Amino acid sequence: MSKRAAAALVAGAMVGVLAACGSGGGGGPAGKGSGHKLVVGFSQVGAESGWRTANTKSIQESAKKAGIELKFSDAQQKQENQIKAIRSFIQQKVDVIAFSPVVESGWDTVLKEAKDAHIPVVLTDRAVDSKDESLYASFLGSDFVEEGKEAGDWLVKEYAAGGGDVNIVQLEGTTGSAPANDRKSGFADAIKVQPRFKVVASQTGDFTRAKGKEVMQAFLKSQSKIDVLYAHNDDMALGAIQAIEEAGRKPGTDIKIVSVDGVKDAFTAMSQGKINFDVECNPLLGDQLMDLVKKVKAGEQVPRRIKTEEGTFTPEQAAAALPNRQY
Ligand code: AHR
Repeated sequence: MSKRAAAALVAGAMVGVLAACGSGGGGGPAGKGSGHKLVVGFSQVGAESGWRTANTKSIQESAKKAGIELKFSDAQQKQENQIKAIRSFIQQKVDVIAFSPVVESGWDTVLKEAKDAHIPVVLTDRAVDSKDESLYASFLGSDFVEEGKEAGDWLVKEYAAGGGDVNIVQLEGTTGSAPANDRKSGFADAIKVQPRFKVVASQTGDFTRAKGKEVMQAFLKSQSKIDVLYAHNDDMALGAIQAIEEAGRKPGTDIKIVSVDGVKDAFTAMSQGKINFDVECNPLLGDQLMDLVKKVKAGEQVPRRIKTEEGTFTPEQAAAALPNRQY
């Protein structure tokens, strides 16, 4: 597995000024004296994928281990539900709010409400596009642009021997989400080195298996020649594999597949030759997140950006990693 260079630690040189978020003494009971359990309100995107299930489990288990009371809310992939949850956490005067924003835009108002209530906010997994950096203390998660680039770089190498046009169909993640935006742009950047790499169709599959299958069925009907499928996550790739097989074609051979996440089910498909390359996106963020919220609450300085350590997998590497894969 090739480790992404310098991915483990701090990317941003800037250090979060927690005072700007009202941390260290504001918020709920833990700020008012010793002996109180830290209370964290966490708004999760939903349960759309295997990755998300693993991420939720990691966060819940780590909170328990760290002695943190976690108020967990599932937004079912809807921004309005996340905004409601954040407002409810503010009302409940939690110590810290953490959330994984379903989409990038439209958060300034509610984040300002948290700031005015002196409740620090930590972003995890996905970013927001707010210009005002004082609205959150830190962002812990993957570099999605880099993930898209890794997928594109693999494709360019795979077709290094030359030949004609390479027709690519793309299954995008949830419209407006950071991973969909960034994985698309990172990939586009990598493949633009040669005009023969053509994205002939691109549509959202909302990060789910069912939608991935449905959209792939439509691609198979509308496109006369598909060489490669690029899926923004494994669940959509797995749905697409079903569609390809039902259409009487061989995934991984007739249509090459490159995907993102690195979940167990995808590794199984890879070991059967159905996915050709997988870029890892690590969902096990729980321990790091709990450390971060503790520091933020204590008023310690924390990095504004913490990137997760991740790798890439060929089918052989996936088959070797499969027996010990945790998610
Ligand atoms: O934000 C991370 C992405 O969200 C994962 O790649 C995907 O599987 C999930 O739904």
